[in-house]
Amino acid sequence: MYEIYYFYRTIFRSIFALQFKITCDMKIFEKSSVRNLELKNRIVRSALWMCMADKDGHITPQLSNVYENLSKGGVGLIITGYAMVDPNDRPNPGMMGVYDDSFIDEHKQFVSKIHANNTAVALQLAYGGSQTNHPDFQDKVLFGPSAVTNRVTNITPKEMSKEDINHLIDSFARAAVRAQKAGYDAVELHAAHGYLLSQFLTPYCNRRQDEYGGGIHNRARIIYEVVAEIRKRTGDDFTIMVKMNHDDYMDAGEGLELDEAVEVARGLERAGVDMIEISAVNETSGKGVGPARTKIHKSELQSYFLEPTSRIADSVNIPVILMGGNRDFNRLQSILESSAIRYFSIARPLLCEPDLVNKWHEKPEYKPLCVSCNGCYRKGEVGCVLQEKRMQKAKN
Ligand SMILES: Cc1cc2nc3c(=O)[nH]c(=O)nc-3n(C[C@H](O)[C@H](O)[C@H](O)COP(=O)(O)O)c2cc1C
Repeated sequence: MYEIYYFYRTIFRSIFALQFKITCDMKIFEKSSVRNLELKNRIVRSALWMCMADKDGHITPQLSNVYENLSKGGVGLIITGYAMVDPNDRPNPGMMGVYDDSFIDEHKQFVSKIHANNTAVALQLAYGGSQTNHPDFQDKVLFGPSAVTNRVTNITPKEMSKEDINHLIDSFARAAVRAQKAGYDAVELHAAHGYLLSQFLTPYCNRRQDEYGGGIHNRARIIYEVVAEIRKRTGDDFTIMVKMNHDDYMDAGEGLELDEAVEVARGLERAGVDMIEISAVNETSGKGVGPARTKIHKSELQSYFLEPTSRIADSVNIPVILMGGNRDFNRLQSILESSAIRYFSIARPLLCEPDLVNKWHEKPEYKPLCVSCNGCYRKGEVGCVLQEKRMQKAKN
């Protein structure tokens, strides 16, 4: 039934898009809104863990300064680095926390500094499970869809009981309510890259025989339930976003693939999600690849998830964000005009130049300095090595 609906809708949309283009081209630098979210432009800062929170996840002045500075740089929406929703689960050291009410006040101050610069902000919520790099969490009991040993960390998680699943749903929902109380415009659930919610979608990690395993909507059920609980507790005036893979990039039969990802995106829309950011790669595959590609030397290598993201955007009514290797403003503008993709997220170039979007506003042909070397992904605090070298040189 849905297939027929989406088939006719795609044809209708294509005809409409042709007519629409003639009369009203969308622009990156135009205002838009998604539920309660008011955006001054269509550029989003994709989540970046900065490794700058304190050992319990509290916001440090250094972390707050990074975000305040970023909020002056022109980006329409900032998605924070991932924040832990449960103190017993930490995918990485130095990540933010939102696992109890003591966090609300500091997040309030944090959000108000970003809002003061007319920039919207979403808190990314995550549970890592067996995908943890945190040295103190290797021996803890960590949740997984099934007790399958993680190929990268070698951790065997505890297969979640129905009670554990309810606990997890409650942890995400409580965290979202705290985010709402702190004044965030939205939350984004991290259901990509091989963290726990993403592992439920991955057949290799999810071998369950109950209603949370098997077919794609069973494997996605936990995410739908988290979304429904957040919607129930935050009401109609709060934006819920999800970051999900379009493909796990695993061996045949092991990972989530595009056809099923399209189904998940449709299911998320039905569950009440307002916006989806499309990524890829299950880092637990052990293949050593991640969503942040290096060597984006040629323009053909930019915006590297364009085709699958476009297909997902064609399949749903909610706005979809194109992520990964977005480096050329004019190209993004033409993608906006020629596809159903409505927003563009950028991560590494904003470490190098937090004011990149202001630069594009003045000069659309401006080329970002980021060379996608992944030097930012290092032990300790995250930062742009290129920029640091440049500043060091200027000092000498
Ligand atoms: C240092 C670093 C930290 C990251 N932290 C997160 C994170 O907390 N949550 C997330 O969903 N993605 C995270 N990512 C992935 C980015 O959001 C983004 O998907 C990826 O870098 C590709 O976009 P880009 O080409 O614009 O950098 C991180 C990437 C890097 C390099």
